[in-house]
Amino acid sequence: LAKIEVNLADIAEGKNVTFKWRNKPLFIRHRPAEEIAREEAVPLSDLRDQETDSQRVQKAEWLVVLGICTHLGCVPIANAGEYGGYYCPCHGSHYDASGRIRKGPAPTNLEIPPYIFTSETTITVG
Ligand code: FES
Repeated sequence: LAKIEVNLADIAEGKNVTFKWRNKPLFIRHRPAEEIAREEAVPLSDLRDQETDSQRVQKAEWLVVLGICTHLGCVPIANAGEYGGYYCPCHGSHYDASGRIRKGPAPTNLEIPPYIFTSETTITVG
């Protein structure tokens, strides 16, 4: 499907759910307050691909990213790795809970697909 609608109310806080969008894995993560605070506090100078957390989310509670490692395309594992976000087991890339690359061979942050909030609790991706 070119576009998918996701009901965010079904995703509990602290959970990362994988959807399928255009035959790609799509991660939607319901971030708790402490995770948001941690990512917002990361200095840009610590980042290989320098994006602030607020540049990567429309609403702080919700991270929407493609589940495709930017190294060679494996699917990272959620809630794993050294930065509390995602870990790609293929060659050891660590991403934070903003989907930003923090360690390992991947060159760039996890990609953010186009999406819009159609209500407080619904997004359309695509
Ligand atoms: Fe993810 Fe290589 S494909 S680290």
